[in-house]
Amino acid sequence: MAKGIVVLDFGGQYAHLIANRIRRLQVYAEIRSPQAAVADLEDADGLILSGGPSSVYAADSPVFNPEIFTMDKPMLGLCYGHQLICHQLGGSVEPGDTMEFGAAQLRVKEPRGVLAGLEAQELVWMSHRDSVQKPPEGFSVLADTDDCPVAAMGNEARRIYGLQFHPEVTHTVSGMEILDNFIGLCGCERTWTMERYIETSMAQIVAQTAGRKVFLLVSGGVDSTVCFLLLNRALGEDRVLGLHIDNGFMRKGETALVERLMQESGFENLKVVDASSDFLKRVEGVADPEEKRLRIGEEFLAVRDRALIDLGLDPEEWLLGQGTLYTDTIESGGTDHADVIKTHQNRVGVIEQLLAEGKVVEPLDQLYKDEVRALGEKLGLPHHLVWRHPFPGPGLGVRVLCSDGNEPQEDLGPVEEKAAEVAARYDLQLQILPLRSVGVQGDSRTYAHPAVVSGDCDWEKLELLSTELTNLFAEINRVVYLLGPEERPVQRIKPGYLTRDRLDLLREADAIAMEGLERHGLMQEMMQMPTVLVPLSADGVQESVVLRPIASSDLMTARFCRLPREFLEDIRDRLLALEGIEAVFYDITHKPPGTVEWE
Ligand code: XMP
Repeated sequence: MAKGIVVLDFGGQYAHLIANRIRRLQVYAEIRSPQAAVADLEDADGLILSGGPSSVYAADSPVFNPEIFTMDKPMLGLCYGHQLICHQLGGSVEPGDTMEFGAAQLRVKEPRGVLAGLEAQELVWMSHRDSVQKPPEGFSVLADTDDCPVAAMGNEARRIYGLQFHPEVTHTVSGMEILDNFIGLCGCERTWTMERYIETSMAQIVAQTAGRKVFLLVSGGVDSTVCFLLLNRALGEDRVLGLHIDNGFMRKGETALVERLMQESGFENLKVVDASSDFLKRVEGVADPEEKRLRIGEEFLAVRDRALIDLGLDPEEWLLGQGTLYTDTIESGGTDHADVIKTHQNRVGVIEQLLAEGKVVEPLDQLYKDEVRALGEKLGLPHHLVWRHPFPGPGLGVRVLCSDGNEPQEDLGPVEEKAAEVAARYDLQLQILPLRSVGVQGDSRTYAHPAVVSGDCDWEKLELLSTELTNLFAEINRVVYLLGPEERPVQRIKPGYLTRDRLDLLREADAIAMEGLERHGLMQEMMQMPTVLVPLSADGVQESVVLRPIASSDLMTARFCRLPREFLEDIRDRLLALEGIEAVFYDITHKPPGTVEWE
């Protein structure tokens, strides 16, 4: 690896946030297993021990190599990592039953080491149960909070530090300064830039392909487009072939746009096929989100293989290119401790096999989304293309919620009653919707019900209520706000699958929403705004749509956006005027607990 920081992953998606933040400070960082041999960590300038949901006392706590603690390297433990350092080096950790979660005031007693330059009071983000009571010998307490006697500790001679809070999340105001201080202690070189990345990854592409050629699917999204450009630059147009498959899950006019953009960029090595009928057939009658993903992923490969034959390409000579990002590999359970949140389409069975055979070229698999954008700009992609909202590989296939039309088996009445009482405290009405969507809680995937609330649009209240509901009730993993009509008719779930007419309806709704964002100058105010079609209907024919605008820098976590009233009223009216749409909702769930896509 390039010299830099190794983040040891003790579970939780946050290991990635840490690595991403370190890279923003221009230092290379990568994630490794805590079971790594000491010899394999020698190249690191410093180690960060990530947080994780476990307790050092738990029988199933993550397995690690204890020799790590004998290494003469700067070390920073965060949350679980902090407790582990304490436990391993002879301090005391007190088990806790209740969770401390949220903002806390840190009292900095000694602004030294990783806390150098901080104010006496700092706002930090906490999320833990156990806590350090007494640091190990040789360590001093650098900071505390009301609930945490050892919120930060350090042994300056050994350059080992532990923090109970999370400097990697943006809620910790001076988080980046703290990480910057640690990098300084490690003596890292700040050489991680996209210029450098272009050079090294081009060399890697040339080496891996060893004279062979690369074939890749180009969806039109940023990742695959940047991947296509990088491959073209590394191998030349003759050794790269892009295929754009219209899978039937594209946005309105998307395929035509991709063709035009590529022509304007001067690429002639991009082919387009319309395979929408094949895809629709493959997902006929399927309602389960994971099953849909799997089938769409498999169909991509089937269409690709047929295209390879039609194009007369020898599979031995052509490798498969993919614009997979670092995070895509992890959400599919890429490290020891990350649970499978959901199967990424670039990680379905057949591709795993090709990967094992070294037949997949993924030049972006070390990058985070923000880095891919920076890379795209460096490669000369037009600004508006680089900044397009990300669009998932399975496209509208994960935005058309499907159902066999059966009401949920469990009796949601008692939960709904209790949840409605909570909502009433905010002067809002609540109902639980009789369908389920995908979410993420802790480090696991959830599949539970959205609650719909209606009443005054007071963002503060809506945000508090949404968080409270999803914390209190396991049955609720999402909360939506009713935009219109003012009086929602009694809606029931209706059968609905991935059919062309439903996709066409969503395409129209999505086009209205996107055009609205452009016209109101809001496109860059958010990372993404999926429009989702849900089979909720009063008359058994019409359906409902959900707007899901989110702000996020890395897509591992996201916040719902508060959009201006004029925009919402405008879009609501246009959507309700669309034939086939009878209600419009607005998703007010952060990620976690709600994922971006409803699936
Ligand atoms: P979730 O729903 O997991 O989405 O919160 C996070 C981000 O990933 C995108 N996404 C995908 N992108 N192939 C992709 O290329 C996929 O299978 C896929 N699934 C989700 C989603 O749009 C969001 O930006």
